[in-house]
Amino acid sequence: MKILVTGGTGYIGSHTCVELLQKGYEVVVFDNLYNSKIDVVDKIEKITGKKITFYKADMLDKESMRPVFAEHTFDAVIHFAGLKAVGESVEKPLLYYKNNIAGTLNLCEMMNEYGCKKIIFSSSATVYGSPETVPITEDFPLSTTNPYGSTKLMLEGILSDLCVPDKEWSVVLLRYFNPIGAHESGLLGESPNGIPNNLMPYIMQVAVGKLPELGVFGNDYDTPDGTGVRDYIHVVDLAKGHVNAVEKATSANGVNIYNLGTGNGYSVLDIVKAFEAANGVTIPYSIKPRRAGDIATCYANPKKAKDELGWEAKYDLQRMCEDSWRFAKMNQ
Ligand code: NAD
Ligand code: WQD
Repeated sequence: MKILVTGGTGYIGSHTCVELLQKGYEVVVFDNLYNSKIDVVDKIEKITGKKITFYKADMLDKESMRPVFAEHTFDAVIHFAGLKAVGESVEKPLLYYKNNIAGTLNLCEMMNEYGCKKIIFSSSATVYGSPETVPITEDFPLSTTNPYGSTKLMLEGILSDLCVPDKEWSVVLLRYFNPIGAHESGLLGESPNGIPNNLMPYIMQVAVGKLPELGVFGNDYDTPDGTGVRDYIHVVDLAKGHVNAVEKATSANGVNIYNLGTGNGYSVLDIVKAFEAANGVTIPYSIKPRRAGDIATCYANPKKAKDELGWEAKYDLQRMCEDSWRFAKMNQ
């Protein structure tokens, strides 16, 4: 089977390419390299010993995607390409709506034109807004608090609507919780430009000495230690979930929605302690005010993915911390 991976040189996409190749899928990637580097292609090939076909294409430039579709017949598309920085989306809403929404519309038009109607979409736990209870199941009410989240919720709706008039469409919406970690080779991982917004990339920069200390955003939440609780999932587990989702997308029609999380909630201080214990380093931190828009607690009920996709996360927090640290050291 041949799979198109949009945004395949990015953080989650690159790990997914590795898992697909290791399972025997043929992989074609396109990316505009806005938030990733071309050398990721070599790294994927080095890890797997297999080749991928890469195109530099931009979803906003529809014709740049045409050679990708004209030269291959795809069994499914895994759609990672998009912008993902919450704070930036508040500052530049048009950029986010245009890239994520208009870009995905162009992609879907190409898919329609070339007769590939199976898509696995990167959604996010952000579509649950501020959940009233945890763990979160897929039928919880949906809402968003920033333009980035709104693009995800709108795209969930748009993709679902495609399935109404045309029964050939199959849409799998994957709602990721908090991906962290890196490939065990140390070759693939996440290295954001500038000062990181997310917790683990920030901790990694403190650990390698690029930043002096971590600011912990609030210790007065209604959680066991007062700091925010999240469902951190190893990116390799997340990537493996996509392989199961491809099997679903190619064997079912209509819309299927899954949480991809571990079901475990860890606080900011749990993560700091786990990182220190796993790697024998000290992470200096100080308590700062709450970050606007943050919620106290968010973790998944991942049972539906287990029951229907046969997938569950395997890697524990120690492993997530070890792999993050290896990648940080090898890519300073
Ligand atoms: P990433 O930025 O590492 O990867 C996204 C890739 O898409 C990048 O390589 C970027 O260059 C590419 N891209 C962006 N706009 C494009 C365009 N117009 N045309 C072609 N390529 C384009 O991000 P990631 O962490 O790997 O996330 C992948 C997907 O998962 C995104 O859609 C993101 O919103 C979603 N997601 C991520 C997280 C997370 O915490 N990382 C959580 C939930 C959902
Ligand atoms: C985790 C916890 C912070 C940084 C975001 C997006 C979400 C999804 C995943 C894409 C929180 C605390 C963080 C720091 C801290 N992305 N923190 N100091 O906010 O759960 O989710 O990424 O879809 O949409 O919103 O992740 O890693 O930013 O924060 O104390 O320097 O760490 O307050 O409790 P978040 P995060």
